[in-house]
Amino acid sequence: MGISPERFETLAVHAGRADLTELGVHAPPIDLSSTNPLPDIERGGDSYESMATGGRPLPDGGAVYQRLWNPTVARFETALADLEQAEAAVAFASGMAATTAAILAMTGESGKRHIVAVRPLYGGTDHLLASGLLGVEATFCGPSEVAGALAARPDTALVLLETPANPTLDLVDIAGVVRQAGAVPVMVDNTFATPVLQNPVTLGASLVLHSATKYLGGHGDVIGGVIACDETTAEALRRVRAITGALLHPLAGYLLHRGLATLPTRVRAQQETARELASWLGGHPAVERVFFPDLDSAVLADGRTGSLRHQMRGPGAMISVALRGGYEAAKRLTSSLSLFTHAVSLGGVDSLVQHPAALTHRPVAPEARPSANVVRLSIGLEHVDDLIADLETALAPAADPTVPSVTPAVLPLSAHAAHATEPATAPVS
Ligand SMILES: Cc1ncc(COP(=O)(O)O)c(C=O)c1O
Repeated sequence: MGISPERFETLAVHAGRADLTELGVHAPPIDLSSTNPLPDIERGGDSYESMATGGRPLPDGGAVYQRLWNPTVARFETALADLEQAEAAVAFASGMAATTAAILAMTGESGKRHIVAVRPLYGGTDHLLASGLLGVEATFCGPSEVAGALAARPDTALVLLETPANPTLDLVDIAGVVRQAGAVPVMVDNTFATPVLQNPVTLGASLVLHSATKYLGGHGDVIGGVIACDETTAEALRRVRAITGALLHPLAGYLLHRGLATLPTRVRAQQETARELASWLGGHPAVERVFFPDLDSAVLADGRTGSLRHQMRGPGAMISVALRGGYEAAKRLTSSLSLFTHAVSLGGVDSLVQHPAALTHRPVAPEARPSANVVRLSIGLEHVDDLIADLETALAPAADPTVPSVTPAVLPLSAHAAHATEPATAPVS
């Protein structure tokens, strides 16, 4: 499937850099211009018209204004499109800005105001869809229920899914959902898998979304979002970006482009460590359940259990754990680790730990919110033995029932916090 790993590594290093030698530079130039000199009214105006309607700058008209076009950002877009095997890519100020633009573009183009969303999703995405803020209505369903949800709503503009899903690492059968969707475009959030492990375009997805903040940047120092797609969809997305203004800053574009060169090396190393940690955590007495993708026995979109090895080249480097000691144990673990930073976000070179029910998935409806005993780990590039030692120390009190809890339960101040501290009504699946 797709490009071979060797080819991918070469692409990751060279994508978006084809003209550097001709330019006489080795590192991509950073163009910070907020505005650009115009050759004359006609040529500047024609170029403006081209970009404001979703096209590219005209060769003799210039980029006009950074909200319409920026060459440093365009380099990152070209490189990401190559890695995702897509015709084009459009970058935004954040992953949520990218999701917002996709919803606006797809509903605006078709005049249809309904979206089918496969749960679980990142809490922010779930929140955006449930809020109705963009004037769209969403039906949430499972992967095998997409056809039914679409039959009930012919006004559906987009099907949205995430795989592996945040935070339970559920795998969704992309081709199976695409089959059910028929003519309705499917957008896959590929943030957790990255193009190193999965290329949804090759499985029929129309839009591939990344919170570039995560693995693409990889160093926890840039926020951005990007969508890979065909050129027609890219035009619709660029039109929304030009009108609404959620553009990626060129410095962020530079950093994201630089991050791509090491993406395969980082993701594969992080994944190997995650495999070892998932297996070690599975044998720990404080751990009730480990959530880590099993590509050989995934639940397919038709309800059967089967392999998704044709879809994904490895499980990735995210792990969630359900702890036997409930919310108290989750709270103790997040505050007892030292190499793992207690922080939201993921996909960087350093390991992070966070409590989804209280943080990333706080706005999600109670029936879809992760259980209060679940903690999510983003595995970084540290030595696996050091991470195991850190987890062993932090889990030790919970493993011994004779040791009393060191952290008293704190009563929540807000309704949201109340949800976060209560056990979820639905089990984590
Ligand atoms: C899977 C996934 N998609 C989208 C987003 C949103 O991205 P951003 O925070 O860059 O807006 C996140 C953020 O955590 C995420 O985890």
